[in-house]
Amino acid sequence: MTLLELEEVTASYGPVQVLEGVSLSVPEGGAVGILGANGAGKTTTLRAISGMVRAGGRIRFDGRDIRGLGPDRTAALGIAHVPEGRGTLTQLTVRENLRVGAYLRKDRKAIPADIDYCLDLFPQLKERIGSQASALSGGEQQMLAVGRAFMARPRLLLLDEASLGLAPSTAKNVYDAIRRLRVESGIAMLIVEQNANLAFTLVDTATVLETGRNALTGTSAELKGMDEIRRAYLGG
Ligand SMILES: Nc1ncnc2c1ncn2[C@@H]1O[C@H](COP(=O)(O)OP(=O)(O)O)[C@@H](O)[C@H]1O
Ligand SMILES: [Mg+2]
Repeated sequence: MTLLELEEVTASYGPVQVLEGVSLSVPEGGAVGILGANGAGKTTTLRAISGMVRAGGRIRFDGRDIRGLGPDRTAALGIAHVPEGRGTLTQLTVRENLRVGAYLRKDRKAIPADIDYCLDLFPQLKERIGSQASALSGGEQQMLAVGRAFMARPRLLLLDEASLGLAPSTAKNVYDAIRRLRVESGIAMLIVEQNANLAFTLVDTATVLETGRNALTGTSAELKGMDEIRRAYLGG
């Protein structure tokens, strides 16, 4: 079943239209990538979904129209957005950040076990559990941002450039953990990534955006085989 569906979504910042009609769908439990150069509209697409920017077109989540709902309401429906630049609460500790991630949950009793699960998923965070997020490395902050999103027990995770600024081995660790989270939790994922090699280790299908439109859409295997993808995004 389709969990998230975008049809011809448009969005503007003031007078400047940056999404010209983006369509994609994420199946229940699926992982879908959004690739594309800087400025193509990847971040804006995620913002349109979570209601951080005004959008046109159709956006449906779990069969209901969510276009125009703000970030609080999309979060309450089960959409967790890990923004570009991570968005951890830097003055709070690792443990406090994870707790804040769970603040909308009714099943309070299950929260300690989910914190333990996050620390198992990201063992580096275990050693830093009492540290302020501001004291963490970039990779640890990214792990914390993903962990915090998981703590909401969302149905859909929106992840924006999780590898940005990380050393390749750290980026791989982060993606390995996200892949494990996907398998073990069944959370559907919409992944914005400039590192297509990394994205293809996780996603089933992807769409390439160019100036606010879909330029190419296909399975990871199909896209990896295309010359234009190899040249532009896979380093050869
Ligand atoms: N807050 C903003 N105000 C005005 N223009 C913006 C804003 N954020 C992004 N843009 C512009 O919108 C376009 C798409 O940006 P974005 O969605 O961030 O692209 P990507 O994530 O693919 O790099 C770019 O031209 C960018 O300069
Ligand atoms: Mg972006």
